[in-house]
Amino acid sequence: MDITVYLKEKKGLVDAFLHSYFSSPITQKRLQDSMVYSLSAGGKRIRPVLCLAAYEACGGEAEEVLPWAAALEFIHTYSLIHDDLPAMDNDDLRRGKPTNHKVFGEGMAILAGDGLLTEAFALLSGFSVRSPRITDRAVLRVIHEIAQAAGLQGMVGGQAQDLLSEDAEPDAETLSYIHIHKTAALIAASVRVGGILASCAEEHLLGLTGYGSPIGLAFQVVDDILDVEGETEVLGKPRGSDEKKKKMTYPKLYGLEKSKEKARELVDRAIGSLEIFDEKAEPLRAIARYLLERKS
Ligand code: IPE
Ligand code: IPE
Ligand code: MG
Ligand code: MG
Ligand code: MG
Repeated sequence: MDITVYLKEKKGLVDAFLHSYFSSPITQKRLQDSMVYSLSAGGKRIRPVLCLAAYEACGGEAEEVLPWAAALEFIHTYSLIHDDLPAMDNDDLRRGKPTNHKVFGEGMAILAGDGLLTEAFALLSGFSVRSPRITDRAVLRVIHEIAQAAGLQGMVGGQAQDLLSEDAEPDAETLSYIHIHKTAALIAASVRVGGILASCAEEHLLGLTGYGSPIGLAFQVVDDILDVEGETEVLGKPRGSDEKKKKMTYPKLYGLEKSKEKARELVDRAIGSLEIFDEKAEPLRAIARYLLERKS
């Protein structure tokens, strides 16, 4: 299958949903403009697409879960806005455009992040037009799952350790804690959410977890590699940001070749976990392979 066609099509669905969600102006225009600026700046939409692909792998139609997929992108975009702040990674370029705080100021960038995070939970919990396949029980479970993956025991916890580990001598345990929490947790949750919304069997959910966790970790390993080997223009964010901030990364601890090997192993393991799925999981398998090849 041609995964670029699949990714483009599903990204189109997500983008259309995001666009229509913010199409009516609200009273606080400056805040909304700041949120929409970062959301619509681009981005691969890999987390929402993984959610849609997992839902399809369990027999559903992607359109049915767009609100939940979009909420994952809200949370991810918030994490990027805050990640780029001077108090964190201090970066000036994101998704090919000046970072949010460069355009709207630090205060508004903090609030845009806060706004996207809370709006995500409004969207997750409040959507009324639902496919009959999606139960209240599944929605509640999804909300809990995403809150955990994004919070103290997930992304925010990992970001905290990432900050605390600047300048530190890298060690395998801390490094894997950072990457599993700051990035893999939300990616694994994105995949699982697709399965939970489809009310798939626990056995299948286990398969999705076995897929989502390693591709989530591989995703950050590749991000670290691209920070060394990528091109700023293609990445849409500055190459060399990790070195500048003396971040703890895979290339720093293991070197580039070993890091690439580890990413490959993780992707193989992820694909192996999908054994109990039929051909409807082919996009998930292809996305895993694509993640190794990506240049942005
Ligand atoms: C960048 O995520 C931050 C990480 C967790 C590595 P993406 O590479 O998914 O960024 P966008 O959404 O495509 O801009
Ligand atoms: C960020 O990791 C992970 C997040 C949760 C935002 P990075 O700091 O490496 O992400 P980039 O490289 O700035 O996108
Ligand atoms: Mg960072
Ligand atoms: Mg960063
Ligand atoms: Mg990075």
